[in-house]
Amino acid sequence: MEQRLQKIIADAGITSRRKAEELILQGRVTVNGRVVSELGSKADPERDRIQVDGKPLGRRGRRIYILLNKPQGVVSTVSDPEGRQTVMSLVKGVKERVYPVGRLDYHSSGLMLLTNDGELANFLMARASGVPRTYHVKLDGVPGGEKLAQLEAGIALDGRRTAPCHIRLLGERPKPWYEVTLVEGRYHQVRRMFERIGRSVIKLKRVRIAFLSDERLGPGEFRQLAPAEVERLRHWKAGKP
Ligand code: URA
Repeated sequence: MEQRLQKIIADAGITSRRKAEELILQGRVTVNGRVVSELGSKADPERDRIQVDGKPLGRRGRRIYILLNKPQGVVSTVSDPEGRQTVMSLVKGVKERVYPVGRLDYHSSGLMLLTNDGELANFLMARASGVPRTYHVKLDGVPGGEKLAQLEAGIALDGRRTAPCHIRLLGERPKPWYEVTLVEGRYHQVRRMFERIGRSVIKLKRVRIAFLSDERLGPGEFRQLAPAEVERLRHWKAGKP
């Protein structure tokens, strides 16, 4: 039965319907080898050959979850207009089309999730979900007096208060390292928070997403999540961390 193309793509678990519309408008979707870039277009998922970026839509049901240690100097998006290396080039040997869950700056390193489970990805990225991410942050100097307490309580950023967060000192020499745990992921949030109190972030590494951490993953390495880990993330979704 014919259905709207954005619905078919979203149902395949790749991404949300809104993002699927963007993929169509960007000319990245083909039906039987022909680019379809109009939003009202329909296709039959049973009969037509539908591809995104040249890859066939995976069959619903085959879900894949990857934990990647992104190195510095790699873009966390699927493609880059400047032609820089992207995280997609690191997930070798994975047949399914996976997508990054959220962003990690070009200059930052550490853990990222990639998946074709659009529903779980949307949940993890939603502000309301409150899934914590923990960072190790090297600063150019020790922040003065009450400054860290101000960040922990929340500051105005782009006209909206940041949610309360946790900051603890890891080591002071030669430059101080802090552990920062946020429950939201706004644009360049950690860097901008420290800039606000007059300090620059020299290094930024994401070391934990919810309960997921993995010190054995070297830069550029990845592993698939174990079924129990996926289950735990889903329970997080149900509000039972
Ligand atoms: N905060 C930042 O400033 N950058 C990141 O990549 C993640 C959080």
